[in-house]
Amino acid sequence: MANWTRLAHIAEILPGERMTEWVDDLPILITNIDGAYYAVEDKCTHEDFELSAGPIDAATATIECVLHGARFDLKTGEALCAPAYSPVRAFTLKIEDDYLFADLE
Ligand code: FES
Repeated sequence: MANWTRLAHIAEILPGERMTEWVDDLPILITNIDGAYYAVEDKCTHEDFELSAGPIDAATATIECVLHGARFDLKTGEALCAPAYSPVRAFTLKIEDDYLFADLE
Protein backbone atom coordinates (compact mmCIF):
# COMPACT_ATOMS: atom_id res chain seq x y z
CA MET A 1 0.00 0.00 0.00
CA ALA A 2 1.40 3.38 -1.00
CA ASN A 3 2.57 5.81 1.65
CA TRP A 4 2.67 9.16 -0.17
CA THR A 5 4.66 11.79 1.68
CA ARG A 6 4.99 15.40 0.59
CA LEU A 7 8.62 16.40 -0.01
CA ALA A 8 8.86 19.82 -1.64
CA HIS A 9 7.29 22.34 -3.99
CA ILE A 10 8.51 21.80 -7.54
CA ALA A 11 9.65 25.44 -7.76
CA GLU A 12 12.25 24.65 -5.09
CA ILE A 13 14.07 22.26 -7.40
CA LEU A 14 14.67 23.72 -10.82
CA PRO A 15 16.31 21.74 -13.66
CA GLY A 16 19.89 20.97 -12.69
CA GLU A 17 19.23 21.43 -9.00
CA ARG A 18 19.10 19.01 -6.08
CA MET A 19 17.98 19.10 -2.49
CA THR A 20 17.83 16.78 0.47
CA GLU A 21 14.66 16.50 2.49
CA TRP A 22 14.49 14.65 5.78
CA VAL A 23 11.44 12.57 6.59
CA ASP A 24 11.93 11.58 10.22
CA ASP A 25 15.41 10.00 10.13
CA LEU A 26 15.35 9.25 6.41
CA PRO A 27 17.36 11.62 4.16
CA ILE A 28 15.95 11.80 0.63
CA LEU A 29 17.97 13.25 -2.22
CA ILE A 30 15.69 14.82 -4.82
CA THR A 31 17.12 15.75 -8.20
CA ASN A 32 15.72 17.51 -11.20
CA ILE A 33 17.43 16.42 -14.40
CA ASP A 34 16.11 18.30 -17.40
CA GLY A 35 12.67 18.49 -15.82
CA ALA A 36 12.52 14.88 -14.64
CA TYR A 37 12.48 14.35 -10.90
CA TYR A 38 14.16 11.47 -9.09
CA ALA A 39 14.45 10.60 -5.44
CA VAL A 40 16.82 8.19 -3.73
CA GLU A 41 17.96 7.71 -0.18
CA ASP A 42 20.79 10.17 0.45
CA LYS A 43 23.12 7.57 1.87
CA CYS A 44 25.78 5.61 0.03
CA THR A 45 25.48 1.89 0.65
CA HIS A 46 29.25 1.53 0.95
CA GLU A 47 29.93 3.49 4.14
CA ASP A 48 26.76 5.55 4.60
CA PHE A 49 28.24 8.80 3.27
CA GLU A 50 25.83 11.44 1.95
CA LEU A 51 25.40 10.99 -1.80
CA SER A 52 24.21 14.55 -2.27
CA ALA A 53 27.79 15.81 -1.88
CA GLY A 54 28.78 14.12 -5.14
CA PRO A 55 28.65 15.14 -8.78
CA ILE A 56 25.67 14.25 -10.95
CA ASP A 57 26.06 13.17 -14.56
CA ALA A 58 22.88 14.47 -16.18
CA ALA A 59 23.48 12.52 -19.40
CA THR A 60 23.28 9.18 -17.57
CA ALA A 61 21.21 10.28 -14.54
CA THR A 62 23.86 8.98 -12.17
CA ILE A 63 25.55 10.31 -9.07
CA GLU A 64 29.04 9.57 -7.78
CA CYS A 65 29.86 9.24 -4.11
CA VAL A 66 32.69 11.62 -3.35
CA LEU A 67 34.17 9.43 -0.64
CA HIS A 68 35.34 6.41 -2.66
CA GLY A 69 33.82 6.81 -6.11
CA ALA A 70 30.84 4.45 -6.17
CA ARG A 71 28.18 5.46 -8.72
CA PHE A 72 24.43 5.02 -8.49
CA ASP A 73 21.61 5.21 -10.99
CA LEU A 74 19.28 7.99 -9.82
CA LYS A 75 16.31 6.40 -11.59
CA THR A 76 16.60 2.95 -10.03
CA GLY A 77 19.06 3.30 -7.16
CA GLU A 78 21.23 0.57 -8.68
CA ALA A 79 24.90 0.52 -7.63
CA LEU A 80 26.88 0.74 -10.85
CA CYS A 81 30.43 0.22 -9.66
CA ALA A 82 32.58 -0.77 -6.70
CA PRO A 83 33.03 -0.24 -3.87
CA ALA A 84 29.23 -0.17 -3.47
CA TYR A 85 27.35 -3.32 -4.41
CA SER A 86 23.91 -2.75 -2.88
CA PRO A 87 21.39 -0.33 -4.36
CA VAL A 88 20.17 2.76 -2.56
CA ARG A 89 16.42 3.04 -2.05
CA ALA A 90 14.75 4.73 -4.99
CA PHE A 91 11.32 6.24 -4.44
CA THR A 92 8.39 6.52 -6.80
CA LEU A 93 7.35 10.16 -7.17
CA LYS A 94 4.19 11.94 -8.17
CA ILE A 95 3.30 15.61 -8.52
CA GLU A 96 0.05 16.94 -7.08
CA ASP A 97 -0.83 20.64 -6.91
CA ASP A 98 2.82 21.45 -7.76
CA TYR A 99 4.17 19.46 -4.82
CA LEU A 100 6.38 16.41 -5.11
CA PHE A 101 5.26 13.35 -3.20
CA ALA A 102 7.31 10.21 -2.65
CA ASP A 103 5.96 6.77 -1.93
CA LEU A 104 7.89 5.80 1.19
CA GLU A 105 6.36 2.38 1.56
S1 FES B 1 31.09 5.79 1.18
FE1 FES B 1 30.39 5.98 -0.85
S2 FES B 1 31.85 4.92 -2.03
FE2 FES B 1 32.52 4.67 0.02
